[in-house]
Amino acid sequence: MNIPYLHQELLHWYFHNGRLDLPWRNLKGQSNTPNPKLAHISRPYGVYISEMMLQQTQVSVVLERYYYPFLHAFPTLSNLAHSKEEEVLRLWQGLGYYSRARNLRKTALYCLEHYNGELPNNRAKLKKLFGIGDYSSGAIMCFGFDAKESFVDGNIARVLSRLYATDSFSQTQLQNKAQEILNLKDSFNHNQALLDLGATLCTP
Ligand code: ADE
Repeated sequence: MNIPYLHQELLHWYFHNGRLDLPWRNLKGQSNTPNPKLAHISRPYGVYISEMMLQQTQVSVVLERYYYPFLHAFPTLSNLAHSKEEEVLRLWQGLGYYSRARNLRKTALYCLEHYNGELPNNRAKLKKLFGIGDYSSGAIMCFGFDAKESFVDGNIARVLSRLYATDSFSQTQLQNKAQEILNLKDSFNHNQALLDLGATLCTP
């Protein structure tokens, strides 16, 4: 595998064909032209909410009906910690998998108590929070904190399987491959590109 070539081609594809405008890719501190509607939202928090919503739900649904109203109601993790569970569930109504909504609030309360109302900038600590697993902790580190982290969800697993022309990778092998091909010069766009390639071109 010619990795520098892969990096170049993947980013080239992404900058011409990727979903560059998604609001959670244009939060302050990341984009040169941050989304003005989200100018007051901290990047790790905005990324966290997007990743939890996107776990089991299509991008279009999150975008059209849930992401902005949720961040409007709870602009910070501390606001979320001080919410009532019914309020959070009301904004989640229709998204399904309601444990996600309950976990958001529990995580917010935990962070208020232990981390000064912020998400920890540490993958192992993130993974110990409610509803955050291996994938989400990596995504929050990379997209929220600019960490050079790799991670694998269903879309990235499919891209890797196609790239190596096999359907027999174990989860550990997939994680190793994701790490091997990680672009350390632009992990943010590299990982967003893998997600987009899996979701829009390299489909099941
Ligand atoms: N699904 C999970 N994370 C995503 C992201 N950052 N962009 C688009 N789809 C996603």
